[in-house]
Amino acid sequence: MLRAALGSAAGLVGAAIVEQTAIGQSGNNGSAGHDAKTAGMTMDMSTSDHGTNMLMGQVNHAKNGFDPLQMLVDWDYGTVSTLPDERTLREYEIVAFDREIEIAPGVFFNAWTYNGRVPGPSLRCTEGDLVRIHFVNAGSHPHTMHFHGFHNAEMDGIPGVGAGNIAPGQEITYEFEAAPYGCHLYHCHVIPLKRHLHKGLYGAFIIDPKHGRPPAREFMMLMNGFDTDLDGDNNVYACNTVGFEYARRPIPIKAGELVRIYLINLTEFDPINSMHLHATFFDYYDHGTTLTPTHHTVDTIMQCQAQRGILEFTHRWPGKYMFHAHQAEFTELGWMGMFNVATEMGFQAALAEVGLDEEWDRKSMSGSTVPYVNNPLRLLMPAH
Ligand code: CU
Ligand code: CU
Repeated sequence: MLRAALGSAAGLVGAAIVEQTAIGQSGNNGSAGHDAKTAGMTMDMSTSDHGTNMLMGQVNHAKNGFDPLQMLVDWDYGTVSTLPDERTLREYEIVAFDREIEIAPGVFFNAWTYNGRVPGPSLRCTEGDLVRIHFVNAGSHPHTMHFHGFHNAEMDGIPGVGAGNIAPGQEITYEFEAAPYGCHLYHCHVIPLKRHLHKGLYGAFIIDPKHGRPPAREFMMLMNGFDTDLDGDNNVYACNTVGFEYARRPIPIKAGELVRIYLINLTEFDPINSMHLHATFFDYYDHGTTLTPTHHTVDTIMQCQAQRGILEFTHRWPGKYMFHAHQAEFTELGWMGMFNVATEMGFQAALAEVGLDEEWDRKSMSGSTVPYVNNPLRLLMPAH
């Protein structure tokens, strides 16, 4: 039953995307808002009335202050310097504040943010770097930054230990050595935790292994959901916050190239989220803490809250291919996107179609903090 429902929805979504592309290019992006809001997040594909179709209209990314297409590749390396002991120091400035964001065309959410965006900046460093985070709480509630990784108790960012809760107007510096390498995250740890998490206080924390990973086009994807009516149930699901954004604007990749996704689940209220790729299979590195895959040749992976991992795959043939949660409910409420797999010749056009340029291409191909050293012995090295 689920498969049948998803299949039919997917087909209709495909048709709607074609229609949307034309509308987007004609500049008609202002009218869908209020109708979309009253329609909730139901994808009523049976009507051709643009106002009731969630794929109509565009989110105002400029007003939001972030664009999910850029979020795929906008790694934050911090301010980099070298310590007397030769280690690399990376310093970050993170400010928590309240902000309304648009999570689907015409659907707004009163978020609590790190640096004004949901998810917060994608912090990236190398194993062994000293990471120093200056955290300022400019929000209306106490917050913290709790990192997944190795650190002592004072740096754990939880209530009642070390500095504990950081009150509005207060600040703190968290500092630790980055380890183990992998695909990690950070989030607020103030009680009630599910509310602080769900409001948007989370982000990716990627630690590259010392010798890097093989060259690939890399993306950060964080699965999240939003309870817009505060009933403890999500009304919008997404990858990188804006529902259906990657369906409206398919992500350009090239046929035959290696793609690597740092996938993180921060969906609250639902125990599990998932990722499914169409027309290809991937290797999976659970938590990203190994250099060889923990799952070979799978096309679906599920993650509990805060679970994450790395996907590696190649699309063989040009064309548009879906990716989405395989829970049909999540898919239909926004967690669905497309890859636009282009030939070498067609890649510039694929970028231009969704408002991207060579700079985006460069960032997606050079995300790693360190060059890859192809030493077979590295596979024998422990993660930490
Ligand atoms: Cu908080
Ligand atoms: Cu956590």
